[in-house]
Amino acid sequence: MIIEISEKKNIVLTINKNCYLKILTEKDITKEYVSWLNDEEVIKYTDIRFSKQNTINIKNFVKNKFSSNSDFLFGIYFDEIHIGNIKIGEIKWHHKKGEISFFIGNKSFWGQGIATLAVTKVLEFATIKLKLEKVTAGYYVINKASERVFKKCGFKVEGKKINDAVFNGKRIDVVIVGYNKEKINKL
Ligand SMILES: CC(C)(COP(=O)(O)OP(=O)(O)OC[C@H]1O[C@@H](n2cnc3c(N)ncnc32)[C@H](O)[C@@H]1OP(=O)(O)O)[C@@H](O)C(=O)NCCC(=O)NCCS
Repeated sequence: MIIEISEKKNIVLTINKNCYLKILTEKDITKEYVSWLNDEEVIKYTDIRFSKQNTINIKNFVKNKFSSNSDFLFGIYFDEIHIGNIKIGEIKWHHKKGEISFFIGNKSFWGQGIATLAVTKVLEFATIKLKLEKVTAGYYVINKASERVFKKCGFKVEGKKINDAVFNGKRIDVVIVGYNKEKINKL
């Protein structure tokens, strides 16, 4: 891995004067953070909805990602307030690729372009700092906000897993998108 685990806690990616990304540690877990992951509207298009979240399992998750040499879990901060998360994870170093996922937990920040900025910044970090050449992601076909974010960030649809998830009792497709390094512009 290019960055030592001991250095991880110092990683801050500045997006603009209001917004930055910071590697999460146990200290960053708040009641609000736990509440987002039990908010049906926030989690409805993710597999998190299948299990009740509490401080203990979130702590384990954050600890695990912090000590992993193939995951970078960032909090998204706006005016010093933690409003969501973005992760590049399960990095396959030999293949120079990783998978991105994100949510804005504080719904009053939806629709302001913050996820788009955060994804763009993590793509820059992944390709320039981590030297990854490929970033992939997947989303439920009905998740139009995610579809739009990936499109705005230059991801291309690479395929569909047909009937891959259950949503409201029906089977739905999961769309697979990918980003290739040569298309990434530095912010
Ligand atoms: C998906 C999510 C991260 C988007 O965050 P955001 O900061 O609101 O995203 P942005 O503002 O950067 O972009 C959202 C885009 O989707 C569009 N959008 C939102 N809801 C939409 C809908 N129902 N149909 C079509 N477009 C929609 C917005 O208009 C915007 O596009 P625009 O800039 O062209 O107007 C946020 O909605 C969220 O956290 N949702 C719950 C968790 C989730 O779904 N995570 C992703 C799992 S793959």
